[in-house]
Amino acid sequence: MRQKLVAGNWKLNGSLAMTRELIGGILDGMGSSGGVEVAVCPPYVYLPLAHSLLENAAVRLGAQDVCDQDSGAFTGEVSAPMLREVGCHYVIVGHSERRNLYGESDELVARKFAAARRGGLVPILCVGELLEEREQGVTEQVVARQLDAVLDLEGIGAFGDAVVAYEPVWAIGTGKTATPEQAEAVHAFIRERLRAHDPAVAEGLRILYGGSVKGSNAAELFAQPNIDGGLIGGASLQAEEFLAICRAAG
Ligand code: PGA
Repeated sequence: MRQKLVAGNWKLNGSLAMTRELIGGILDGMGSSGGVEVAVCPPYVYLPLAHSLLENAAVRLGAQDVCDQDSGAFTGEVSAPMLREVGCHYVIVGHSERRNLYGESDELVARKFAAARRGGLVPILCVGELLEEREQGVTEQVVARQLDAVLDLEGIGAFGDAVVAYEPVWAIGTGKTATPEQAEAVHAFIRERLRAHDPAVAEGLRILYGGSVKGSNAAELFAQPNIDGGLIGGASLQAEEFLAICRAAG
């Protein structure tokens, strides 16, 4: 059985006060986690504070991005060893906002995935198609290309210690969620593609869905056989809404 994971991606939102309030609200409301693993991914500068607030708590910490290099002359970058040192367990790589707004290529994303693992972090690899790609009927080709870039560099074994998040770009922050059937079809495709390389790794891999997940639609998404939790943007900024999603995964 794959343990469900619900991870909050705060994106470019927050402050010291909000970090205290939001994490406090999550911890207050969590009770028993119901077998669900929960993680939060605040902006880099709030990671040390988040780490101290989460001490002895069952909520894991993640970052939203990582450099493909470990150290050196890379102004503005943050490395996997640095993220480890401030308490991160997870790091998101290849989010569509990084790919589409900052021009990250499949190859760069694959190198970030490798750097995360090298530094002892668990990468959450985001894949997903644009609206025009879905309309052209090339969703599977796009997702396959994004997965293959990582497979080519790191091999299937690397997916034994990683998470994949399927996030259709047209569903992110738009309020337009993929239907459970649409999402499940792509999740099943991802698992099948990896199964061809290694059935056990494919079976154990957690594949999260992301894109306008809310308390009200989470349960039907998470009920699909190949949906193992969610990567939550907007709804992760309110403790009550995020907790409702966590409960829906329980
Ligand atoms: P959303 O974002 O939940 O606000 O759609 C999801 C994501 O981008 O990870």
